[in-house]
Amino acid sequence: MNVEERLRQKKEAVERELERLLNEEDSLMFRAMRYAVLSGGKRFRPLLSLSSGEYFGASRDILLPFACALELIHNYSLVHDDLPLMDDDDFRRGQPSCHKAFGEDIALLAGDGLLTLAFEVIAQAPVGDSLLPRKEQVLKEISRHAGVKGMIGGQLMDISLSREDLTEDTIHELMLKKTGGLITASVKTGAILGGADGPELEAVVEYGRNIGLAFQVRDDIHDSGEDEQDGQPFRPNYVSLFGLETSKKRLKDFVDAARNTLNEASIESEELHWLASKLLELKGKKGK
Ligand code: IPE
Ligand code: IPE
Ligand code: MG
Ligand code: MG
Ligand code: MG
Repeated sequence: MNVEERLRQKKEAVERELERLLNEEDSLMFRAMRYAVLSGGKRFRPLLSLSSGEYFGASRDILLPFACALELIHNYSLVHDDLPLMDDDDFRRGQPSCHKAFGEDIALLAGDGLLTLAFEVIAQAPVGDSLLPRKEQVLKEISRHAGVKGMIGGQLMDISLSREDLTEDTIHELMLKKTGGLITASVKTGAILGGADGPELEAVVEYGRNIGLAFQVRDDIHDSGEDEQDGQPFRPNYVSLFGLETSKKRLKDFVDAARNTLNEASIESEELHWLASKLLELKGKKGK
């Protein structure tokens, strides 16, 4: 089976498990949560967890709940990110954003519900006694990277920095927190559950930071092609700071750095290489 086929199967497993987790009841809250999650995301973070975990020897069954928890956290962040008091975006994945479909109050709670569900899923993940210390380590990583020192801190920088505050250092710090945090946590989760330690785990983190940066540069390149809607707030964007050509070059540099890190640490995961290289493909709005 080639690498694309293997990743397609992983994505299908993630979709099935997300559907199962979100089908607990047919209530307004679960409908809003399902609407937000089951709407065609790339599932990049779960794929990173599964690919890195399986490379290091963890089984799909062990990894899947953690991979889905990371996707639930990611989706909560998107629901809240789109709210009028944040980015004020009416569309997400080509359909009305959660608050447009359900109202702001329900969208706020749906985001809260997804975040809370993620930790319930982790708590219930059956790993067996021998992996319990690693589960605890993963829990710490995920909560830290999703929290104020990670994604939430990055979102704070995103909404509070002005044009004048933007330097190479501040925008890189912002990107590493708001996007790189959860991406690093994803690849690290798999590696920890697979038993990686020491220099190997450090290499995985370095890979995660670089594809996190690449991921946000790519997203900013896509955003920079979108028509700005009236009244939308200022948001830091790599392309506004550095221009399109430099942004494309940096995107390639970050992907190269991520792949070199794998090579130097002799991590021969075709899937992790492929997921990094995939970020070089720039698509139209719909393919984002
Ligand atoms: C978009 O994330 C928000 C960022 C962190 C840049 P994705 O590009 O992963 O969104 P989906 O989940 O595939 O829709
Ligand atoms: C969102 O970044 C990052 C999150 C933590 C949600 P963006 O605001 O750039 O993501 P999009 O462009 O709305 O998908
Ligand atoms: Mg935002
Ligand atoms: Mg946004
Ligand atoms: Mg964006």
